[in-house]
Amino acid sequence: MLSFSFLPSFLLGPCLALAQSATSTPASQASSATSFAPQFTVPSEADEGATLLPNINDEDAPNAQDRCPGYTASDVKTSATGLTAQLSLAGPACNVYGTDIENLVLTVEYQTDSRLHVNIQPAEITPQNESWYILSTDYVPAGSQEDGQMTTSDLTFSWDHSEESGFGFNVTRNSTGDVLFSTTGTKLVYENQFIEIVTQQDEGYNLYGLGEVIHGLRLGNNLTRTLYAADVGDPIDENLYGSHPFYLQTKYFKRGDDNTITLVTDEVDSDEVSGNYTSTTHGVYFRSAHAMEVLLRSNNVTWRTLGGSIDLYFFSGPTQPQVTQQYQQVIGLPALQSYWGFGFHQCRWGYQNWSVTEDVVDTYRKFGIPLETIWNDIDYMNQYRDFENDQVRFGYDEGADFLNRLHDNGMHYIPIVDSAIYAPNPENASDAYPTFDNGRDSNSLLLNPDGSIYYGAVWPGYTVFADFLENSTHTWWKNEIVAYYQKIPVDGIWIDMSEVSSFCVGSCGTGNLTLNPVHPPFKLPGEPGNVLYEYPEGFNLTNATEAAAASSSSQSQADASSTTASSSAAATSSSSTSYLRTTPTPGVRNVNHPPYVINHVQGDLAVHAVSPNATHVNGILEYDIHNLYGHQILQSTYAALAAAMPDKRPFVIGRSTFPGSGTVAGHWGGDNASKFYYMYFSIPQALSFSLFGIPLVGVDTCGFNGQSSEELCNRWMQLSAFFPFYRNHNTLSANSQEAYVWASVIDAAKTAMDVRFQLLPYLYTLFYNAHTNGETVMRALAWEFPHDPSLAAADRQFFLGPSILVTPVLTQGATSVDGVFPGLFEGMEVYYDWYNKSAIAAPATKNTTIDAPLGHIPVYIRGGAILATQGMALTTRDARQGAWSVIVAPDVDGQAVGNLYLDDGESVAPNATKSVTLTSFGSGLLSVTVDGAYDGLDLPLANVTFLGVREKPADLAVKINGVVVGESVFDEKSGTLSVTGLEGALGGKVWGGSWNLSL
Ligand code: GLC
Repeated sequence: MLSFSFLPSFLLGPCLALAQSATSTPASQASSATSFAPQFTVPSEADEGATLLPNINDEDAPNAQDRCPGYTASDVKTSATGLTAQLSLAGPACNVYGTDIENLVLTVEYQTDSRLHVNIQPAEITPQNESWYILSTDYVPAGSQEDGQMTTSDLTFSWDHSEESGFGFNVTRNSTGDVLFSTTGTKLVYENQFIEIVTQQDEGYNLYGLGEVIHGLRLGNNLTRTLYAADVGDPIDENLYGSHPFYLQTKYFKRGDDNTITLVTDEVDSDEVSGNYTSTTHGVYFRSAHAMEVLLRSNNVTWRTLGGSIDLYFFSGPTQPQVTQQYQQVIGLPALQSYWGFGFHQCRWGYQNWSVTEDVVDTYRKFGIPLETIWNDIDYMNQYRDFENDQVRFGYDEGADFLNRLHDNGMHYIPIVDSAIYAPNPENASDAYPTFDNGRDSNSLLLNPDGSIYYGAVWPGYTVFADFLENSTHTWWKNEIVAYYQKIPVDGIWIDMSEVSSFCVGSCGTGNLTLNPVHPPFKLPGEPGNVLYEYPEGFNLTNATEAAAASSSSQSQADASSTTASSSAAATSSSSTSYLRTTPTPGVRNVNHPPYVINHVQGDLAVHAVSPNATHVNGILEYDIHNLYGHQILQSTYAALAAAMPDKRPFVIGRSTFPGSGTVAGHWGGDNASKFYYMYFSIPQALSFSLFGIPLVGVDTCGFNGQSSEELCNRWMQLSAFFPFYRNHNTLSANSQEAYVWASVIDAAKTAMDVRFQLLPYLYTLFYNAHTNGETVMRALAWEFPHDPSLAAADRQFFLGPSILVTPVLTQGATSVDGVFPGLFEGMEVYYDWYNKSAIAAPATKNTTIDAPLGHIPVYIRGGAILATQGMALTTRDARQGAWSVIVAPDVDGQAVGNLYLDDGESVAPNATKSVTLTSFGSGLLSVTVDGAYDGLDLPLANVTFLGVREKPADLAVKINGVVVGESVFDEKSGTLSVTGLEGALGGKVWGGSWNLSL
């Protein structure tokens, strides 16, 4: 959603807007509309909630640690596989933000040798906690004990009791003797609407994860991470679309001269030699779908949730890859993706009809820029109704023909599907909407507490929402998608607004359906009164003359608006704000306004989202399950696509995610803006999703909100080429920003895409490893170099898999970039420039300035890798017909290894696969072993290039399996040895069997 919540309120007043008729263009594209009818606009006040003061900013708010009694443990029973105990309130109830639960049960399970589970939940249902909700394993998997036989574990749970604070516990890693988690000396607070655990932390701790948030990769120790799925345009440091209550923590240690080990609590300068350092990593997952806050402070981390249970999983690591794998053993491994999904995707809000859409495809082709997939935003819908096309602009027959042409050319098509479903006007028979009828008739809709249907408001007007906790809903959703697929054979689905968004507080459509279709309570981009006057960032630097003219006209606008701003500021300061504060009532939960106020970006929990009291099947309240909505719609959409195309891997991209969403979908970073700093934030945002087990991640390249610029888009098209999910997307009414809009961007995009295409077999193999073993795809420098504490916060560079280092320019006007080559300074690593293939000379300082004029993105191969590549084509289908090349990039010891996973790239269960291992123990030596029967990519070998070759070999003749096949060429300048013209070797089938190459 746009960041319209920040729009001045004079743009948002209730009014009659012009509406599209059933077969017309949306009001937002007035220029191409065919007819209009007056339309009621939902009043902007409808989306205003109570004025709340977040607890963390409320000086008068009671501190639960001061007021509450804590708990006492009794009846402690230990066994080889765990422990159980009773916990009882240690004193009079405090009822600080809810009703205290007298008796709790503690269950500790050693689930695997690296995973410990600690659960605390109410002992019984009592009048104080009768509405208490525990997250069902039907919806979110829970790790279980391995065969009940777990006797050895690297983790130990211990507990103690102190006079002041009562029961507390520690989790210790045995192999390192390190306390990973400690609540001792703090009070456990457990109420029906508020749970708090406080854990000790060492100074300068390094925590990662706890998303989704726009923030640097390392979270720091002065941040409150709110987890409450929100529809909001990518604000910094606030809660956002996804909820991932998981963190990874790395501790660095320094080895002293006398071999003593001390914890590193300060920043380590990048030029300090890293050989003296080690690190250990562990992870913590709080399995909960409730609104949550994690307070990161200098010496402690406090978890607060608004209900549910304490359901903690500890992962002992002790490395980042191990923690990530251990976490994904609980939440599920990422889906196997189709090869084509790694092609380039073009999208925008505002492709008004099929011809405009096809024009974009044709223009990409005209300029020879690869395009894999064209996307349509809500423009294609009949009045923003899911599963119905506007028949004038996006007719089915025309669409089917267009998709045939796309598919014939190896391209793909993806439409948006919004989470809300239009509720037709009951007084207008021509407004009938079968999708709604089917949902209602199968009892698949969210309800009000009184059992009536909950009606919110989204793009189409007043809407209903699927209840994905209800089994019938999945059948309904599947039927809708399968039926739509019969009309428009889509290749994937883009799920949006899934937090789940609703543009009004409460069931605002109740009693109002006869007004439908209504206009949202704000202007859409480009509508009169909401026109984008902004100039691209840095316009004044690159367009001096126009900028001067622009700045004088914007000055007059600024003068006008500053008058408005100062008068409204005066109004605020003259009246003191009165906040809604609620107090706990025994046995009754106030779900709409809980006594504890989280620091939610939208304030009131019901603003811009379905209200907490919306009711799911069996009376489960949205309050208890809110963060799960976006995940469940992804699961259901994945299953529906699997039913529509049983042989193909479903391609689903979603906005709101939860632990486990990677099993069915990828994620795009939502509504960023066309600013250089958002290009930077895309890196930590994507790296965090590696930790969350959602490797298919990318952002709106060139920026969503605001005007992009040639320079920004040039840099961004190059950067995103190294993200797993590569899509350019733009908001309605902003200037076009497809890769062909600016000449320099055409070249820059092709340059970076050329590298991406060559790396596709490598990327695909990385995804296979993610799918089978939980390995990460995009990697932080710190994860690849755990002995280097100076990389703890590094997030302006990243690795793609273990072997490709990307050092992008992220600032405007720059022609060079500062970066590090981890390990190179210390002589432990070798890096090769991707473009000229020569080894990078060891720098004098660890931080190096790298030349990076516009159009050049520095990319390096880390020594030790063998990459099997195929060349660029307009689509991945065509690229996969091309001959193979092999690049051998040795490490400091002259060795290199590579792996390749091959299959048909799309079958759910491929009937044949192939696994190739490539090894090299010196220049001019390559050994290839092949396992498996898939032969679809057994194409000719074009060439082999050895990098890092210092001396010309005595004999340049090249042998494959002992038979001379040609001559190699040594290039002294780049230190490369190339063998070309190998197409005829190996019977033209490079992976047809095992082979050796030697000089
Ligand atoms: C939301 C999405 C955005 C989309 C828009 C219109 O803002 O995040 O990507 O373009 O809705 O559907």
